[in-house]
Amino acid sequence: MYKHVSVLLKESIDSLNIKNDGIYVDCTLGGGGHSSEILKQIPKGHLYCFDQDDYAIEVASVKLSKISDNFTIIKSNFANIKEELEDLGVMKVDGILYDLGVSSFHFDIPERGFSYHSDALLDMRMDQTQQISALTVINQYSLNELTTVFSKYGEITYPKRLAVAVIKARDEKVINTTQEFVDIILDATPAAVRKKGHPAKKVFQAIRIAVNDELEVLKKSLESSLSILNQKGRIVIISFHSLEDRIAKRAFNNAVKVDIPRGLPIKDSDIPREFIKITRKPVTPTDDETTENVRARSAKMRVIEKL
Ligand SMILES: C[S@@+](CC[C@H](N)C(=O)[O-])C[C@H]1O[C@@H](n2cnc3c(N)ncnc32)[C@H](O)[C@@H]1O
Repeated sequence: MYKHVSVLLKESIDSLNIKNDGIYVDCTLGGGGHSSEILKQIPKGHLYCFDQDDYAIEVASVKLSKISDNFTIIKSNFANIKEELEDLGVMKVDGILYDLGVSSFHFDIPERGFSYHSDALLDMRMDQTQQISALTVINQYSLNELTTVFSKYGEITYPKRLAVAVIKARDEKVINTTQEFVDIILDATPAAVRKKGHPAKKVFQAIRIAVNDELEVLKKSLESSLSILNQKGRIVIISFHSLEDRIAKRAFNNAVKVDIPRGLPIKDSDIPREFIKITRKPVTPTDDETTENVRARSAKMRVIEKL
């Protein structure tokens, strides 16, 4: 059994403003920490939980069943939120939660290939039925594609140098394992960068984002989520790096924007808005939480409400 400590638990659940007969969606079930808290507060409502990982679903469903049976687990990418809910006859919901990224077990189970600390086959798929894995990205992407992945998803400052090193290594032999990849990263990293922490951290992040197409699915999902909220319904999103936070920030900024036709004597405040941002600045964990849980250090939470 694995342990995943939920981040910003109280803050996120309070921010959902839960009604006891409401319909809620947890887009990232994981270990079921957030879902459990929602479920406890909706004796007359229903919770729909998404995860694309079979192991997360297996573990969390046991946990949730001990609370009540007012929940449905959907094994699907949260990019499909609207379609999947429509298939179940659910057109509108009262709150949606995202706690992005991977669960602790993804790193703790070496065979999942997410951790640069263990040695395992390169994998990094959350959905293990998906074809593309880290093996595919590292061994088949072109020089340009790898350079883009490293710079865009890992914000690596020497992306081409690293991509060239990967191509050179795989020309000799397929790169199969996490440690083979770590060695290539260490060799290609300038000494000055190596002093700033383990260089594989950001490179693994970049590959993981590419394998799971994390940024594109988030954009698609947020667009759908905004369109299925009931009045007073809220979206709460917890992100763990600037790329995700930027997408949330942009989606919420666009949602609250009003277009004033040019030349009309109307003030911005005169136009009825569809959404309002509940958090002007992202909420971050307390010092106590980050001391207890290192994973919480980079967390940022944003909340929006439909008017
Ligand atoms: C950080 S964990 C969630 C932890 C959970 N909130 C808790 O308290 O236990 C994120 C979970 O979301 C899942 N996930 C990430 N991206 C997803 C996506 N695009 N579609 C479906 N599930 C996703 C992962 O498999 C993982 O189990």
